[in-house]
Amino acid sequence: MLNIVIFGAPGSGKGTQSERIVEKYGINHISTGDVLRAEIKNGTELGKTAKGYIDQGQLIPDELMIDILASVFDSFEDSKGVIFDGFPRTIAQAEALKKMLAERGQDVTVMVDLEVPEDELMTRLIKRGKDSGRADDNEETIKKRLHVYHSQTAPLIDWYKNEKKYQHINGLGTMDGIFADICEAVDKL
Ligand code: AP5
Repeated sequence: MLNIVIFGAPGSGKGTQSERIVEKYGINHISTGDVLRAEIKNGTELGKTAKGYIDQGQLIPDELMIDILASVFDSFEDSKGVIFDGFPRTIAQAEALKKMLAERGQDVTVMVDLEVPEDELMTRLIKRGKDSGRADDNEETIKKRLHVYHSQTAPLIDWYKNEKKYQHINGLGTMDGIFADICEAVDKL
């Protein structure tokens, strides 16, 4: 089983690199942001709840996210592994993921941290907001998302270092170059 946590601030390239990793390693992909956006699009109760948080750049409560994650995970059959994109985002989520995998005789193989300077994150997300119209890609909400990342999500770096699962990757450069660096790290495992 290859269970990868792809990690980084908003705009660091988690979704971009996940697509490539899925294609190369044939593993499943869980993007919690995509799951929530699909719920919003479909106008579900969950979507209505999620929209309130996402539009404010805030995290959805842990209990809700952990349930969503477990139900998507359990929908995969004959999986070679999973790339977790956007989850975990808090220590409580990391602990829940560890427990969920342990109950299935698994663990996180590696946590890949894409590090990108803040001015580049802002540039990428403002550009994407103009191109795609994603509601949370405006300057005010991006600033809130970055604040939430630093206060609630970045502590996971030390958490995964402690687990001996941490892999730093420079997320600045070409998409192909970054992908090659990730593959080199994963292939060594
Ligand atoms: P989510 O969708 O996970 O958003 P995010 O973490 O803010 O990440 P992004 O999708 O903005 O960026 P990314 O790192 O995937 O980068 P991408 O590849 O798209 O979550 C959205 C919201 O949902 C959260 O704010 C929260 O409210 C909620 N949520 C989700 N998960 C949750 C959880 N677990 N708990 C609680 N709440 C949760 O790239 C960004 C842009 O940069 C793209 O345009 C791309 O083309 C470009 N780009 C990528 N790589 C490069 C490169 N190397 N050079 C130049 N441009 C690049």
